Amino acid sequence: MKTLFINAQLVCPTEILEGNLLIENERIIDIDVPSDTPADHRVDLTGKYLMPGVIDDQVHFREPGLTHKEDLQHATRACARGGVTSFLEMPNTNPATITVQALHDKLKLASDRCLVNYGFYIGATCDNVHELQKAQRTPGIKIFIGSSTGDLLVDQQEALERIFAETSLTICAHCEDETTIRENQARYQGDTDIATHSRIRDHRAALISTQRAIDLAVRHKHRFHVLHVSTAAEIDPIYTAREFVTAEVCPHHLFFNVDDYDRLGSLVKMNPSIKHKSDNEALFQALLDGKIEVLATDHAPHTQEEKSQPYPGCPSGLPAVENSLALMLNEVNQGRCTIQQVASWMCEAPARVWDIARKGRLAVGFDADLTVVDLAHSETIRNQDQQTKCGWSPWDGTTLTGWPVQTWVMGKPVFRREADGTDWFASECLGQEIEYQHADKTNMAN
Ligand code: DOR
Repeated sequence: MKTLFINAQLVCPTEILEGNLLIENERIIDIDVPSDTPADHRVDLTGKYLMPGVIDDQVHFREPGLTHKEDLQHATRACARGGVTSFLEMPNTNPATITVQALHDKLKLASDRCLVNYGFYIGATCDNVHELQKAQRTPGIKIFIGSSTGDLLVDQQEALERIFAETSLTICAHCEDETTIRENQARYQGDTDIATHSRIRDHRAALISTQRAIDLAVRHKHRFHVLHVSTAAEIDPIYTAREFVTAEVCPHHLFFNVDDYDRLGSLVKMNPSIKHKSDNEALFQALLDGKIEVLATDHAPHTQEEKSQPYPGCPSGLPAVENSLALMLNEVNQGRCTIQQVASWMCEAPARVWDIARKGRLAVGFDADLTVVDLAHSETIRNQDQQTKCGWSPWDGTTLTGWPVQTWVMGKPVFRREADGTDWFASECLGQEIEYQHADKTNMAN
């Protein structure tokens, strides 16, 4: 089965090509072919961009165990609507993904529930190095060096040294320093102002922990990815250690800051906390400068009821997979970045960091995971339209220009924004398990 996309602006790594792209079954087989090339289907994309599907390398989809907040069916419809064709999910489910068996159980669970392609991290604990060593079919190892939702925390130096020394998969971590957090908690005990969250999980907590993790990565020569960087101060240490260290930023750390607590309250309570306007700006600049390579969401849904509990009882996290690409395309329209940069941050770089096979670029032989973008389409984000099971967005009421209008997974359409304003979704679960091409990254220190 061949499908020909004609008259598209093709978002390729080094250029925007005006042309036609041919796919056969699950793969891209030609780029820049004549528009009369024989095909079973033709899709006219006049006036639209065709980019690689977004790969979101940090999401919490809550299955198994926390499905009152989110589940794979809702979350992957949200992905499709947001132009996200692949996701890598975090291990703080219930049970936590901290054994090879739990990883395989999750992969099995996902196999008939996902509209888009799926992958799952294995989580580190203080004593599961043997599981981390055995794990395959995973992008890498997640460590909560700072606590967050769930009870996965590895804060002891000895345990961290072992994980970095004795495993070979790429490690990523949530970096917020527990000692600093606890000291600040004692200082602000009894304070019920939501803005206190950013005083407890402050700039120092983020920087100390990120520096500690970078030190481990460099000493053990171990590939390491800093998740959700939230402060300007973390950027240079990360960039200095770039031989071993990559990093990512999330939309909420680019677009929200402590001034938003008045308007949005606990909806923007996240870990790491949102910081200052100057951090928003520095983080955006770090993307532009190539000092931070990846943009991912940390999609972390909780119900509105849970979020409406008074501080500090309300949980941390917000949903974003449905709107992350549009948020960035809106920036393209504002002239702050180009669509090629967006494709680099959201597609190509995550594929590179996690050794994902055949994804992240429009190139011959690559998977036909495709997102069609209409840069002129304006739409207002509404809670009632959200596919995420939690049913809300911190961007409710925000109008963005530049939206994904079609999403294709492994050569098949999974989502369309119709001209009449309705959404169409495929009824079959078309997502496949993501494949990795991990080189032997056994750290050289051993
Ligand atoms: O705010 C957060 N919530 N940050 C995380 O890292 C975890 C997430 C969650 O799972 O709720």
